[in-house]
Amino acid sequence: MGEGVLTQAFARREGAAYCEDVPAERIARDAGTPTFVYSAAVIRDRFRRLSAALEGVPHRIHYSLKANSNRAILHLLRELGSGADVVSGGELFRARRAGFGAHDIIFGGVGKTAAELRDAVQAGIKLINVESEAELRLLDRIAGELGTPAPVGFRINPEVAVETRHEYIATGSKGHKFGIPFEDAAEVVRTALALPNVRVLGLDMHVGSQLASFEPYRDGLEKLAELASRARALGASLKYVDIGGGLPVAYGDGDADPDLGAWHDVIVPVVRKLGVELLVEPGRFFAAASGVLLSRVLYRKRSGGKDYVIADAGMTELLRPSHYDAYHFIETATARAERATVDVVGPVCESGDFLALDREMEDAQPGDLLVIHTAGAYGYVMSSTYNARPRAAEVMVDGHRFAVVTERERYEDLVRLEQDDPEWRDA
Ligand code: LLP
Repeated sequence: MGEGVLTQAFARREGAAYCEDVPAERIARDAGTPTFVYSAAVIRDRFRRLSAALEGVPHRIHYSLKANSNRAILHLLRELGSGADVVSGGELFRARRAGFGAHDIIFGGVGKTAAELRDAVQAGIKLINVESEAELRLLDRIAGELGTPAPVGFRINPEVAVETRHEYIATGSKGHKFGIPFEDAAEVVRTALALPNVRVLGLDMHVGSQLASFEPYRDGLEKLAELASRARALGASLKYVDIGGGLPVAYGDGDADPDLGAWHDVIVPVVRKLGVELLVEPGRFFAAASGVLLSRVLYRKRSGGKDYVIADAGMTELLRPSHYDAYHFIETATARAERATVDVVGPVCESGDFLALDREMEDAQPGDLLVIHTAGAYGYVMSSTYNARPRAAEVMVDGHRFAVVTERERYEDLVRLEQDDPEWRDA
């Protein structure tokens, strides 16, 4: 099992699962289940390693909030020196609330509303990556109304071949909804240079997530470099090249943690030659291996020749297995010698509600605590309250200490916005 799946932070000690120096059972007893548990040490370690890999070129890491926007994680990354990458007004709000300064924030996303753009310009953020000419013109109008020029980057679709574990997480190939098509890009830059209220500062791409190789970075950067010289010839003074997120992590099913030295060699020389500041937007790389999901086994059941482990977490807490066929390594918090091949399923009334199918694993019994690994990214943030299931709690561990950083939702929270006495209006 490679580093990243069972990182040292979540290694068993004498047969019992730990998070750093805290037994998983201790957390489950205090916080209940299902609960997400994050290790501060893993985030610190990963931030330092990624920073070291980018040495040699001016750069800034902008953590992508979409992977996990828990305030405790944001605080930690901000203290380490990270900036923030947001994709909505809600994420902008979360980033500001966690203490990120406006100049530490960049804003991307294919469908930003006028209100979101206005908030971003008003706050004075570092960069807004626009994804179409229509968005560029809207932004120019809004910035004009506010009397504040908008700092603009162009999210380009470099139209390169991208291999990921699931088609839903590839973004930079021809025909994807994201970015400005490469053939239109120079013309959009020319248009921008003639608009009075935008400042052209950067070029941006994000080719996919959990990338199987670094080739899309290399091919995409080559396209951005080509566009950069055309943009400069048109009079743009570029300050930033943003290469998005996408670094893979090891989930334990054949994927490996990235070779950051090799990544450096693909990225840094090209960016150095361009003479710009490199921006990166990693999400999964920091958050995924920092977190596990703890879930209690409720029942065992045999049906149609299959063995089911019925847990108190499912697609409502961790959608990835169901939505992307994603693999998450699962073990019992207390080691068991016996093994079985089972489907690990949740309580939700959907056949697609599973955490693992046909999984050869420890023979988990009712009452056992399951540790579902590499669940820190795209876990809690993609959870839902379907079947009126309150959202899980979140816990941060740092050495021998731990804290509930997000309370479990209560039933009252599920109905909080419903009106007791709705106000009916005539059409
Ligand atoms: N920047 C942009 C513009 C993005 O669209 C994304 C992810 C990132 C940065 C961060 O990518 P990362 O470093 O985390 O790969 N829910 C899916 C992943 C969706 C990724 C969406 N965009 C999953 O659970 O695998």
